[in-house]
Amino acid sequence: MKKSLPIFILLSLICCKMAFAQAVQSHTDTIDRKWWKEAVVYQIYPRSFKDSNNDGIGDLKGIISKLDYIKSLGVTVVWLNPIYSSPNDDNGYDISNYRNIMDVFGTMADFDALLKGLHDRHIKLVMDLVVNHSSDEHEWFKQSRSSRTNPYRDYYHWWPAEKGKPTPRYSFFDINSDAWKYDSLTNSYYLHYFSRKQPDLNWENPKVRTEVDDIMKFWLDKGIDGFRMDAFQYVAKDTTFPVFPPGYEKNINKYYGMGPHLHDYIKEMNTNVFSKYDIMTVAEGAGSTLEDAHNLVDADRHELNMAYHFEGVDITNKPGGYTLLDLKQVYTKWDKDFEDKGWLAIFMANHDNPRMVSNFGNDSPGFRDLSSKMLTTFLMTMRGTPYYYNGDELGMTNIGFTDIKDYRDVAALNGYKHVVNTGGDVQHYMQELRVRSRDNSRTPFQWDSSENAGFTMGTPWIKVNPNYTTINAADEDKDPNSCLSYFRKMVSLRKVNLVLVYGKYNLVDADNPNVYAYTRELDGKKMLVLLNFTAKDATVTSGIDLSKAKVLIQNYTTPINQNHLRPYEAIVYQMN
Ligand code: NOJ
Ligand code: CA
Repeated sequence: MKKSLPIFILLSLICCKMAFAQAVQSHTDTIDRKWWKEAVVYQIYPRSFKDSNNDGIGDLKGIISKLDYIKSLGVTVVWLNPIYSSPNDDNGYDISNYRNIMDVFGTMADFDALLKGLHDRHIKLVMDLVVNHSSDEHEWFKQSRSSRTNPYRDYYHWWPAEKGKPTPRYSFFDINSDAWKYDSLTNSYYLHYFSRKQPDLNWENPKVRTEVDDIMKFWLDKGIDGFRMDAFQYVAKDTTFPVFPPGYEKNINKYYGMGPHLHDYIKEMNTNVFSKYDIMTVAEGAGSTLEDAHNLVDADRHELNMAYHFEGVDITNKPGGYTLLDLKQVYTKWDKDFEDKGWLAIFMANHDNPRMVSNFGNDSPGFRDLSSKMLTTFLMTMRGTPYYYNGDELGMTNIGFTDIKDYRDVAALNGYKHVVNTGGDVQHYMQELRVRSRDNSRTPFQWDSSENAGFTMGTPWIKVNPNYTTINAADEDKDPNSCLSYFRKMVSLRKVNLVLVYGKYNLVDADNPNVYAYTRELDGKKMLVLLNFTAKDATVTSGIDLSKAKVLIQNYTTPINQNHLRPYEAIVYQMN
C-alpha cells in the first residue's frame, strides 16, 4: 500500500431500535462498566472547525455555533486539541500560558459557554494536556533561560556548554534533527524533543509536577471531564543522558518512552488529582510493548484509564506496504492482550495522520463513500473506546498539496528545509508529503457548498479542499445514505448494544486476505461483522451460517448476497 517517510514514522510513534433495546437489557453485572469505556469520542481540531469572525481561523464561538450538529452525531465526548495561549509554532502544542485561551480562539467566557453548551447536551469535554514541553515563550522558560541561578532554571533540561556537547538526542521537528539547542545567553544547551520552540519540561523537578497538578485542577474545577495527555510517555527522562546505540532514533519509543520514574509521576498525579474527580485520562502512546501499555492503564495500578497505541496507524508506514492480514494481526493481538485487563482507545485518524478514508480506504470517486462507511463500521464495532476525527464522518479526503507554499505544519516545513539543506531528494519528499503530511487532515471542515466550504468568509489559514462542493455536511445531512447519516446510525448502534463495547472479540476466517470478519459476544448475544477491505468482490468462508442472521446495518442499499461481499462492503449481523 503506501511507502513511508521517516519523519512521519517517528512522528506517529510519538487513532433496529427493538434489537438495540434488548441488547442493553441482556447485560449482566459482571462487566466493569465505565462511562469512558462506553463513550464515542469526537475529536475537534479547533483551528479548522468553524470560523465565527472571518479572520480565517476556526475559534470557540465557531464550535459553539455547531453544537447542535455535534449533538446530532450522537457522540458522547468531545476531545479538543489545545486551545491555550500559544505562539502557534506547532498549532497550539507549544503553550505559553496554560490558564488562558489563545487570542485567535476567543476568551475564557467563550470557553465557559462552550463547556456549558456541551454539558447541556450531555456531551463531556476532554482537553489536551501538553506538558512534556511548553512554548519557549512561556514565562517559566523566559525565566529559566535568563540565568543559571534563576529559580526556574530547573524547570527545563539544561546542559552547560563547558561540559562539551551534550549526548546526542533526536528531535522530531528540528531542521537538523538535533534536540539540543545552544543558547548563548547562559552558554548552555536546552533539550527539545519537538521543535526549538518546544523546550522539554523537567519532570524530575517536583515543582514542575506540582505546577502541572495545579493546572489540571484549574480546568477540572471548571468542570471539564478529562485529559488527553500529549506525548506523555516521554516526560520522564534519565537526566544523566546516557549514550543510546546508533540508530536509536528508529525506535524512539523504546529509548524515549517510559523513562525511569514515569509510573511514580502518574501515580502521584492520580493520588493528587485524578482520583478526586470522575474523569477520563488517555495517554498518547502506549510505550513499545504490550506490557508497557498494561502498566499505564490496568485498573489496579491506579494510573490512567486508557492509552492509544500507534501500531494500528503506523502499519500504513510499513516499508513496502502492508496487507489486510497485517492489519488483522495487529488489531487482534492488541485485543487479545487486553481481553481480561486494561482498556484501550481505538482510532484510524487524527490531526497527526492523513485522512482515514485516504489512508485506510479508497478515496477515488467510485469507492470513497463505501470505503469510508466500511471503516466507520470497523471503528464502531471494535472493543476499546473509539476516537473519531472531525470531518471523517463526511468522508473528507487528503488534499495532497503539491506546492510547499501550501503547507503550514512545522513538521512538513522543517522537514523540507532539512532535505534542501542536506541535498536530499526534494521531489521524493514532496511526493511523500502529499500522501503523509499532517496538513491533509487539517484542512477546514466542509460545512456546505458555499465559498470556502462555509468555514469562513475570510481567507482560510490553510486551503480548503476543493472537493467541498460535493463532500459537505449540508448535502450529506439531507441524504439518508450519506457517510454522515451512516456515521450517525453506527454511533447509535454502538451506544445501545453493549456487546459492541464489552463483547468478546473473535477473528473469523482469519486467513482471508480480503475480508476482515469477526464476532462480538456478550451474555449469549452474538454479532458478526463482515468488512471487505478491497475494491474487488470477495468471499467469506462458507463455514459461516447466515441462515438465522439478521442484518443490523449495511453500507450498500441493495440486497446482500450471503457470503459474497461487494467492494468495500460492510455488514453487521445479529446472529441470535
Ligand atoms: C503529539 C501531538 O498530537 C502533535 O500534534 C504534536 O505535534 C506533538 N505531540 C508535540 O506536542
Ligand atoms: Ca476566527
